Amino acid sequence: MRFTRRAVVAAVGVAALLTATACGSSDNSSSGGSGSKKVEVFTWWADGGEKAGLDGLVAQFGKDCAGQEFVNGAVAGGAGANAKQVLASRLQTNDPPDTFQAHAGAELKDYIKAGQIEDLSADYATWGLKTAFPQGLIDNLTIDGKIYSVPANIHRANVVWTNKKVLATAGITEDPKDLATFIADLDKLKAKGIKTPLAVGKDWTMLMLLESVLITDLGPDKFIGLWNGSTDWKGADVTKGVTDFKTLLSYTNTDRDALDWTDAEKLVMDGKAAYQLMGDWEAADMDAKKFADYGWFTFPGNGQTYQWLADSFVLPKGAKNVDGTKCWLKTVGSADGQKAFNTKKGSIPARTDASPADYPKYQQAAMADWKTFKQVPSCAHGSACSQGFQGAANSALGAFSTKQDIAALQSAMAAAAAQFGK
Ligand code: GAL
Repeated sequence: MRFTRRAVVAAVGVAALLTATACGSSDNSSSGGSGSKKVEVFTWWADGGEKAGLDGLVAQFGKDCAGQEFVNGAVAGGAGANAKQVLASRLQTNDPPDTFQAHAGAELKDYIKAGQIEDLSADYATWGLKTAFPQGLIDNLTIDGKIYSVPANIHRANVVWTNKKVLATAGITEDPKDLATFIADLDKLKAKGIKTPLAVGKDWTMLMLLESVLITDLGPDKFIGLWNGSTDWKGADVTKGVTDFKTLLSYTNTDRDALDWTDAEKLVMDGKAAYQLMGDWEAADMDAKKFADYGWFTFPGNGQTYQWLADSFVLPKGAKNVDGTKCWLKTVGSADGQKAFNTKKGSIPARTDASPADYPKYQQAAMADWKTFKQVPSCAHGSACSQGFQGAANSALGAFSTKQDIAALQSAMAAAAAQFGK
């Protein structure tokens, strides 16, 4: 699907080109030619906790980059479902935004390999970023010794969010540590009249749920192997995982294919469901929506596994305002920028020098876990797999939602791994 500039604006509504500026301009025209002082920042953070995080970063940019103007190029839709299509079309027609959001890992490497983004190694040296981030994360931003983006955060994907009041009505007082207990709790909730106690949304949100189940059933090392070719998608242990996933789907809302993650989250907040597996942007979103009665636990059976992903920002080839964009990137990587962003976004800072006391309760727990847990990547959010692999996985999950054919899902994922895996 081809998106025009007008469609981009329509996708986010009238606030699309909202400015939050150091110079306070109210001119909402798109980024100008050379000499432009506008920095168009392309994300999918258009609402709720995501927008709150972006706003925090924009406020810091206003302080750090006087004379530069933030232009909001956000395209709404969880996980970039719409934004990535718009971006691909703009990159293809040499109309890049000044900067865009890209996930560290395989997804970022798509842009590097396509020659669409600039090497930032020299800026890393100037801004003192080489030692600010953990080496493992830097590796995910690097090809052939060159570093191509500035990470804003670390998110955790394998978390179950709960409505505490709904759990209390079913007498559930302890977090389940394994799948069998989780399923027993889902049955208790059903018996209390919560017909679909586990909320889920469309394709990529189901992929997240499947990934969590596979971490439990395969263990972290074999799970990592699914994305680098060393674990067979057609294996018996994957069959067990997909079978467990199918069981979990039977407790979910049947309108799932039409829902984004925020629609499924609403089912939890409204008390129509008790649980949702989602990344920790959900903590920030529930905070932004003033829903305080939530709890969380790591997906049952994942043990001490932290499924990570990181949002990062790049300098596209052909960006109109290189100086302004570099100032944005410097802010993104700075201690103040990371604090302004992550305290509102549910994620933890990518920098290692942050102080947990500055953060809300959930992030304090996440910062501690990040240091000790085993790290595994996410396909749904680009750290584990390329955009081609993600697209194929999302289609396979969409088909599974309807047909529930275990062998067909395994074959589709095996074919995707053969085509797009390492
Ligand atoms: C992820 C992104 C997060 C959050 C989420 C839901 O891909 O990394 O920052 O925005 O999508 O939209």
